[in-house]
Amino acid sequence: MSVIVLGIESSCDDTSAAVVKDGYLLSNVIASQQVHKDFGGVVPELASRAHELNIVPVVSRAIEMAGITSEQIDAIAFTRGPGLLGSLLVGTSFAKTLSIALDKPMVMVNHLQGHILAGFVRQYDKPVSEPSFPYLCLLVSGGNSQIVRVDSPVDYEILGQTIDDAVGEAFDKCSKMMGLGYPGGPVIDRLAKLGDPMKYTFAKPHIPGLDYSFSGVKTSLLYFVRDRMAEDPSFLENNKEDICASFQKTLIDILMDKLIKAAKQTGIREVTIGGGVSANSALRERVTLEGKKRGWNTYLPEFKFTTDNAAMIAVAGYFRYLAGERAPLDVAPVSRLADY
Ligand code: KG4
Repeated sequence: MSVIVLGIESSCDDTSAAVVKDGYLLSNVIASQQVHKDFGGVVPELASRAHELNIVPVVSRAIEMAGITSEQIDAIAFTRGPGLLGSLLVGTSFAKTLSIALDKPMVMVNHLQGHILAGFVRQYDKPVSEPSFPYLCLLVSGGNSQIVRVDSPVDYEILGQTIDDAVGEAFDKCSKMMGLGYPGGPVIDRLAKLGDPMKYTFAKPHIPGLDYSFSGVKTSLLYFVRDRMAEDPSFLENNKEDICASFQKTLIDILMDKLIKAAKQTGIREVTIGGGVSANSALRERVTLEGKKRGWNTYLPEFKFTTDNAAMIAVAGYFRYLAGERAPLDVAPVSRLADY
């Protein structure tokens, strides 16, 4: 028998709802919030208010576009965390209300697990190969940088993670500091294509094991730009492409060094990437290149599934539903989730 899951995602600044049938995508609606543009970052209170406005039309549209009635939904998957508490509350409360109204069970999903399973969003018109288990996922977003070993859709082990900033944060903060705009990742990605990645070098951390650190390289860039600007006020304007290309290369080197180490240590050759930073064109090229060199099977998520979306939450919820998991009605959202 088919299983239809409605997914609801509201962890940050995108309100999204999606419907999947046996893991196949029927609809995926995303309302991106524009209210934060002037602030150079997401303003939590504004985000929750926008979610409140968006959630009903977004969920209704997702059900309508899927061509189903709400009674046909078997389970409601929602993001429990990590994320902004006010934002998560909107999605969680809505899921509970719908669960009571339709008398259908809820399944809670860790947002990061959604990113990790993004490669399992099946599309009728675009079949893609899925990684086989166990695989390694380089999970890189605005809030996290992790290497995760995935043994099954509900079975994870974090092999390494950042001890300070996330890589997306390094992109965003450095872009903001250089006055290039927000979010920083896409801007730096675009400018880096026009620059020389070997022109400048920035400090790389020496962290034992498979953990990451990005605060040092961020500071290294800040001091570098500040010192050069003291000598030549137009330095940044005249060299921003080379700075972006060199900075981006440093971040990618750091990410890849540990990913390669993890693959060697575990002997796993199935490798995926996920999260907002997995949209980065240089990172995608590099993963593909290293994969060819090292005999890995690499899987890159489609661009639309790299950023926050409910399709991945619905799919993660689908697997959890099949595994028999159900969320109680008194479940509360959590801003930080230590584990999967
Ligand atoms: O996963 P995501 O949408 O949000 C969470 O953090 O949950 O990730 C957002 C992050 C931001 O830091 C943004 O700058 C980064 O993903 N990002 C990119 C690119 N597109 C988005 N970073 C590098 N290159 C990109 N093309």
